[in-house]
Amino acid sequence: MRRSRIVSTGAYVPEIIMSNSDLEKMVDTSDEWITERTGIKERRIASKEQAASDLAYEASKIAIERAGIVPEDIDLIIVATISGDMPFPSTACFLQEKLGAINAAGFDVNATCSGFLYALHIADGFIKSNLHKRILVVGSEALSKVTDWEDRTTCVLFGDGAGAVIVEPSANERGIISTHINSDGRLWELINLPGGGSRNPASTETINKRLHYIKMKGNETFKVAVRTLEDLVVKTLEENNLDSSQLDLLIPHQANMRIIQATADRLKIPLERVVVNLQQYGNTSAASIPIALHEAVVSDRIKEGDYILLEAFGGGLTWASALIKW
Ligand code: UT7
Repeated sequence: MRRSRIVSTGAYVPEIIMSNSDLEKMVDTSDEWITERTGIKERRIASKEQAASDLAYEASKIAIERAGIVPEDIDLIIVATISGDMPFPSTACFLQEKLGAINAAGFDVNATCSGFLYALHIADGFIKSNLHKRILVVGSEALSKVTDWEDRTTCVLFGDGAGAVIVEPSANERGIISTHINSDGRLWELINLPGGGSRNPASTETINKRLHYIKMKGNETFKVAVRTLEDLVVKTLEENNLDSSQLDLLIPHQANMRIIQATADRLKIPLERVVVNLQQYGNTSAASIPIALHEAVVSDRIKEGDYILLEAFGGGLTWASALIKW
């Protein structure tokens, strides 16, 4: 079966920088605590005018230009986000309008921090089955808009940004080797945004109870994340008869340096072969992997033929991976 291939990447982060010391002035926290527990030093914050589709637009323009195509060439847009412009229409439709991608269909994927890899899984399947020929896959988050800036257990973690890729059929053995998606809805309570949907429709009460913001049981999530990701990366390599020594680059979801380190240790790969940028951007949920991928591409950390492993974990709970021969 033919493979699909990521032919180009793009990324965008908003200009506004919020440092740990800025947060010290807002909640009872410290640069020392945030750095030690997470590795994060600063994060980007979308402006008042910027919604998820605006960030997605900036990242997509770069990916489209780098692919040497025009927006009209795209036949499908998939946006992974949990902070879309509105509950509906989809952020993909807003993005389509901004790009002028008039020949595309568009929809969103909600798989929290695993969203980009879920979207890549879908794109890979659509290309392999010949249903689509050129797909724009985006992870975009304006998490600052759904973050409780009075809750120190969550507000120090998240940031805004977007990453985009163009996926096309591969002419050879380069491309996406395998994708793996998983979820366990029994653990939905560990991370969620409870207000504003049909369970708790927006009301004065939901606002007063701050239900329109992200809630997370951080420590419980942390433990499940470490265990699950260790199993996931080992299984992804095993299923493809690949040894971790053959892996050129690991691009993990950027949630916590301690989680990234644990996964790298399990694979016995040094941090030089791991892309880490959470110190600059924090956890940008669905955007973190495509941003890290783009940065690795433009800084020449990826060469043609390299084996690259992408992996993520998030609310749902969901977890996912993708193995790529670049
Ligand atoms: O993105 C997808 C999924 N998300 C994740 O993967 C996130 C997973 N979780 C984590 O990254 C970590 O659990 C956190 C960084 C969120 C928290 O680190 P932790 O080592 O698990 O800390 P903890 O929640 O057990 O809290 C330890 C202490 C508590 O105080 P006590 O009860 O020991 O007195 C917290 O109240 O740290 C306190 N604390 C803080 N202190 C200063 C919690 N948040 C803060 C803060 N500043 N911002």
